[in-house]
Amino acid sequence: MKKKLVAVIYGGRSSEHEVSIESAKTVLDLAEKAGFRALGVLIGRDGRWTAADPRLGSKGPPLIFDPADGSLLRGRSRLKPDCYFPIIHGTTGEDGVLQGLLEMAGAAYAGCGVESSAIGMDKILSKKLAAERGVPVLPHVLIEAAEKGSLERGLRKAATLPLPLFVKPVSLGSSVGVTKVKSRAALGPAVRKALRFDTAVMIERGVDRAREIVVGVLGEGASAASSVCGEVKPKGRHEFFDYEAKYLDDDGMDFILPAALPAAVAAALRDRAAAAFRALGCSGMARVDFLLDPRDPRRFWFCEINTAPGFTSHSLYPRLWNETGVSPERVVARLVKIGEARRSARARLSIARK
Ligand SMILES: Nc1ncnc2c1ncn2[C@@H]1O[C@H](COP(=O)(O)OP(=O)(O)O)[C@@H](O)[C@H]1O
Ligand SMILES: [Mg+2]
Repeated sequence: MKKKLVAVIYGGRSSEHEVSIESAKTVLDLAEKAGFRALGVLIGRDGRWTAADPRLGSKGPPLIFDPADGSLLRGRSRLKPDCYFPIIHGTTGEDGVLQGLLEMAGAAYAGCGVESSAIGMDKILSKKLAAERGVPVLPHVLIEAAEKGSLERGLRKAATLPLPLFVKPVSLGSSVGVTKVKSRAALGPAVRKALRFDTAVMIERGVDRAREIVVGVLGEGASAASSVCGEVKPKGRHEFFDYEAKYLDDDGMDFILPAALPAAVAAALRDRAAAAFRALGCSGMARVDFLLDPRDPRRFWFCEINTAPGFTSHSLYPRLWNETGVSPERVVARLVKIGEARRSARARLSIARK
C-alpha cells in the first residue's frame, strides 16, 4: 500500500518562528516513525512557501498552495498531501487563519479547526466558554483600548479585586506583556504596558505563588481523553512563568511528571481539561493550563488553553502523553486520523438547498 503523505507546515510570520522549526523537526520524525511519508512545508518570514527539511537545514523548491483542492504545485509537478499538519505557534498559525485557508481548499488537517483555534487565542472568550461548562475561572476586569474611558473604569473596578493581580494582553502568548502587580500604584503602568502589545487587556485576580498544572487533551468531541497532570515550576528568581523563564533562562523551569497531587484532584483536573476542550469545540489536540492554590490543591482555576502546543522533543504536550502511555508517534498518527475523519464528515454534509 502506498504510504500517506503528511505535509508539516511550519515556520510562519509570527515571533515564534524559531520554536516552530524545532517542533517541525520532531513532528517530521514522528510522522515517518508512524508510517507516513513526511514533507516539510516552510512558511518563510516573507510569507512564501517552500519545500524544506528543518532536520537537514535544507531548502528545496518553492511551493504554491492551490486553494481549489489543497494540492501543492512544485515546478511542473503537483503534490496532494493526504493530511496537513500545521505546527505554527502564535498569530496566523494558531489563531484559525491557516486553518481557514486549509478549510477553503477542503484539505484535511491535524489539530483544532477555525473557530476553536480563534477562540483559544482569546483568553476572555475561552474563559467564558469554559466557565459555562463548570470549569472554575478567576474573576477579571477587561480594558479595551478602543472604548472611551475604558482604562479609568477598568482601574476603578479592579479596586474590588484583592492583590496580587495579573495584567495580561487578551490575545497574546509567551507571557509577553504579562505583569504580576503587587501594589495598587503599580496597576496603571502594568495596564499601559500590556496595551502596547494588544488592544484588549485583562486584569485578573492573581493566585499568589500558584502551582501551575498542565493537562494534554487528545481526541474529538465526547471521546476526547486527558493525559496525566504535569506541573511546571518556574525556578530561582522567577516569581511566575515570565518570558525569561520560558525562553531565555536555560534553567528557568522544572517539569514534574506526573504532578504530585491527591488522586481526586488529579482526576478533577483531567475531567475539567476535557470539559474545557469540548466547550471550545476543539479537535485533535490542546494543552489546558490550570492555576492551583499552593495551600489547598482542591482550589484550582482554568488559566488558558493552547491549541498549538509545542512539539519539540522536550515539549510538555508529547511528554504528558508519553507518561500516559501513548507514544509521541501514536499521538501524531491519531491527530492525522482525526483530521482526515473530520474532513470526510464535512464533505458528507449537504450543500444542496433542499
Ligand atoms: N491569575 C493568575 N494568577 C497567578 N499567576 C498567573 C495568573 N495569570 C497568569 N499567571 C502567570 O503568568 C503566566 C502567563 O500567563 P498565561 O495566562 O499563561 O499567558 P501566556 O499565554 O502568555 O502563557 C502563567 O504561566 C502564570 O505563571
Ligand atoms: Mg501560558
